[in-house]
Amino acid sequence: MGMQPDRRDFISRSLLAATALSAPAAAAPAAGPDKIPSSFALDGNRVRLFSPRIAKGFTVTMIADTHLFRDDERDEAFRQFSGRMAGAYNSTRHFLTGQPTNPEQGFVEALQAAKTSKSELVALVGDIVSFPSQAAVEWAVARLREASIPWIYTAGNHDWHYEGMPGPLDSLRATWSRQRLAPLYQQAPPLMSVRELHGVRFVTIDDSTYEILPEQLEFFREQVASGVPLVLFVHIPLFAPGRDTGYGCGHPRWGAASDTGFEVERRPKWREGGHTRTTLDFHREVFAAPNLLGVFAGHIHRASLDVVNGIPQFVGNANATGAFVEIELVPQA
Ligand SMILES: [Fe+2]
Repeated sequence: MGMQPDRRDFISRSLLAATALSAPAAAAPAAGPDKIPSSFALDGNRVRLFSPRIAKGFTVTMIADTHLFRDDERDEAFRQFSGRMAGAYNSTRHFLTGQPTNPEQGFVEALQAAKTSKSELVALVGDIVSFPSQAAVEWAVARLREASIPWIYTAGNHDWHYEGMPGPLDSLRATWSRQRLAPLYQQAPPLMSVRELHGVRFVTIDDSTYEILPEQLEFFREQVASGVPLVLFVHIPLFAPGRDTGYGCGHPRWGAASDTGFEVERRPKWREGGHTRTTLDFHREVFAAPNLLGVFAGHIHRASLDVVNGIPQFVGNANATGAFVEIELVPQA
């Protein structure tokens, strides 16, 4: 329904616009809570996050890009959409030793390591399965239950994707998250979730289409406004200066013109004209969040560390090659 904005509304909008234009961007103070004291360290696959706001020391294990591929007769009708990815990671080489390994072994060993280090939470950060195979999801959930460590999960671009299946990515994601990935989500909503542990909030945001939806931005803003220390998990790394479009959430060059993967992955081309305003706002607000201890991501299958506005983003190697990240929360400045 079209409605004429009333005059007061128009004036206040104009004033807001004028204020925004006249204020130098760098001088604009971040709204909301004060910056909380924190720092970080990286030692092999161990990340330490320090803050006096952490209530007690504990460990969380991040697993990303396992690329499990087992399937059964329930997937027979979908083989035309799953064939390429079902063969993509059948055998791998261990990221440290170079010895032959495979995704299931990588997953089992990461959970064993999480047990050994008494991890209190496992964060599954996307591409845990290479396509939405019920058999692979059931296998992963059985291993997680055996380990009896609580877990959180956010999808990657492959978990819900049957290559070549027609339809907008948003609705394919919604369909297959519901029909196949539900046991991994447990009761959490697929697009975003939060779990608090010892004074730290572990937040997942699904950016597996490279884009952020308005309700996800709103949810992230609520987490920032809480003032509680946050750790953010996203599958696709956020853009950091100098990085290519693998760091594709909020990348200034992301878009139809830079999409080289759409034919192989049999999906619609990235958006003409680049990211939505919402995605760019999300990117800016993540790296301005005063209570964010760090961002953790997967997707590119190579370990990296970028620091943007003092906030670290850690990317883990692929669990398909045996890798995982241990995040140690340390209650000191
Ligand atoms: Fe992956």
